[in-house]
Amino acid sequence: MATVLVTGGAGYVGSHVIPGLKRRGHRVVVFDNLDRGHRSTLDQLDVEFVLGDLNDPEALQHLFMGYRFDAILHFAALAYVGESMLSPDLYYRVNTAGTLLLLQQSLAATACQPPPVVFSSSCAVFGIPEQLPLDERSPKRPISPYGRSKLAAEWLLEDFGRAYGLRSVVLRYFNAAGADLAHGLGELHDPETHLIPLAIAAVRGDAPLDLFGSDFDTPDGSAIRDFIHVRDLAEAHLLALDHLLAGGGSDDFNLGSGSGISVREVVQAVEAELQSPVPVHHAPCRPGDPAALVSDSRKAVAVLGWQPHCSSLQQIVADAVAWDQQQRLLICQELSHVNA
Ligand SMILES: NC(=O)c1ccc[n+]([C@@H]2O[C@H](COP(=O)([O-])OP(=O)(O)OC[C@H]3O[C@@H](n4cnc5c(N)ncnc54)[C@H](O)[C@@H]3O)[C@@H](O)[C@H]2O)c1
Repeated sequence: MATVLVTGGAGYVGSHVIPGLKRRGHRVVVFDNLDRGHRSTLDQLDVEFVLGDLNDPEALQHLFMGYRFDAILHFAALAYVGESMLSPDLYYRVNTAGTLLLLQQSLAATACQPPPVVFSSSCAVFGIPEQLPLDERSPKRPISPYGRSKLAAEWLLEDFGRAYGLRSVVLRYFNAAGADLAHGLGELHDPETHLIPLAIAAVRGDAPLDLFGSDFDTPDGSAIRDFIHVRDLAEAHLLALDHLLAGGGSDDFNLGSGSGISVREVVQAVEAELQSPVPVHHAPCRPGDPAALVSDSRKAVAVLGWQPHCSSLQQIVADAVAWDQQQRLLICQELSHVNA
């Protein structure tokens, strides 16, 4: 049993990893400022929680004084490409400087024997790909401050490894999606910018779905992305943690399903699942949006023994829709209690 620090555990991907950590008998401590995460998720998961900000050295100092961590899963970050274009300073502060502070405090608290780190990186570090699919050696030329702030954090881990012996596993997710119905977890970003929840919300009567770009050089003209079920991502984190706890060395892995799926195909899948058209608003493509991003995840399969089990588009959409229905039912039940 290990004591594991989960930064950003109140957010989407981090919260989905927690049930698996607990199932393995690990003690889980979440550190989150709740800026974009949900306190209710943590209550539901029944984990130890320390409220704090990555950019607050004193909060981190207290955290490392209070616990001796065997490993860190570092999810906490800001993750909107568009927002990063408008406020690059914010993204470098949280994603890069925040990671630096976390590593420094961890190092200081452990007499230079820092616990290993599993780091949430992103396919945004690749920028516009020259070749598909993207493997770990593909050129990394990020075009957004978000992607750059993540790549800079990858470099920090690499340099701390060289200088201080820090072991780390970098996991570069492609498009995380889906839900974990058994634990009542799903995607609840605020604001929501992700395709599948927005398509579901459009059917439910929210704003029509912005369909960015219809003349990409792809078979149906819409952008192609690689969707990976959040439960498969969670499994990859558990395997990466096992690898590090067993003394394994630093490594990096791309995590996707390996199948390129167009935005229009996603819209059709949501329509099929909900038996209703998705209202769409056609918008120009966003600057720097690549036509296609697809992962080559064979290294994670070969080295970690990872196998994505539930990343078919049908499964991802079915789970996202079911979770949305679960949430709506809960809201109705709460309202009827209030009105009773
Ligand atoms: N969701 C995706 O498709 C995707 C894809 C690639 C990479 N990622 C990466 O995965 C990680 C998790 O993404 P997510 O979708 O779960 O995001 P999220 O916004 O749902 O979760 C991030 C969590 O970090 C917390 N946080 C943010 N700034 C903080 C700070 N300064 N101090 C403490 N806590 C802070 C938030 O409150 C939130 O709970 C991020 O690092 C993101 O860059 C996500």
